Amino acid sequence: MKIINANDYNDMSRKAANIISAQVIVKPDCVLGLATGSSPLGLYANLVERYKQGDLDFSQVKSVNLDEYLGLTHDNPQSYYYFMNENLFRQINIAPENTHIPDGLTENAEQACTEYEQIIQSLGGIDLQLLGLGNNGHIGFNEPGTAFEQLTHCVSLTESTIQANSRFFEKLEDVPTKACTMGIKSIMSAKKIVIIVNGKGKADIVQKAFFGPVTTDVPASILQMHPDVTLVADAEALSLCDI
Ligand code: GLP
Repeated sequence: MKIINANDYNDMSRKAANIISAQVIVKPDCVLGLATGSSPLGLYANLVERYKQGDLDFSQVKSVNLDEYLGLTHDNPQSYYYFMNENLFRQINIAPENTHIPDGLTENAEQACTEYEQIIQSLGGIDLQLLGLGNNGHIGFNEPGTAFEQLTHCVSLTESTIQANSRFFEKLEDVPTKACTMGIKSIMSAKKIVIIVNGKGKADIVQKAFFGPVTTDVPASILQMHPDVTLVADAEALSLCDI
């Protein structure tokens, strides 16, 4: 695992954007695995800026998102569909038909998960998967206890994730309790993984995930077994790591 030390959130965002930009420049028709949450907001703003300056071209890029809540309509600002369009897709020249997000409105969520996995395969797999880290060590919506062998599947969110994500909703009751997420196996199949983490609130889980035992209790700990992982983290997030 490679660790890139960043001073703060802005520095983390810029350094992670350098890696994504390099991927797009080296392979213009690459498949990017994308994430939501507050961690990648600055990174996406950096990519938009570089696109506007003419330094990046997304016309051949394909994307697959990690996860989506079940039951939120596309015009709901808390849906990951809305998030991605607002913060990235509509601001760059990626073709809408080349972007993929799990269908959170399907009648048959299990079948939609199987189809999503087939989409990833049909694109030839993920060249670079971007991840954030949940407070409890989740990646995507793979909560503690999830089997490492899982492909894209439906999940019930844990109380701690519902609590953590409630900051984006008006009331706790508005937070969906179910989601569709790429599984750990789908994530681990990516050729390259970049995980971004910031803030002292994540210091403890960063230490456990990257320097503790590999265990399903901390889903992100499996990343220690991936051959090409880059952790881009700020000083606060790395403050409990002995590096
Ligand atoms: C959410 C998302 C994850 C995200 C994580 C961290 O629940 N499903 O994909 O990486 O939590 O979010 P944040 O970056 O806001 O801390």
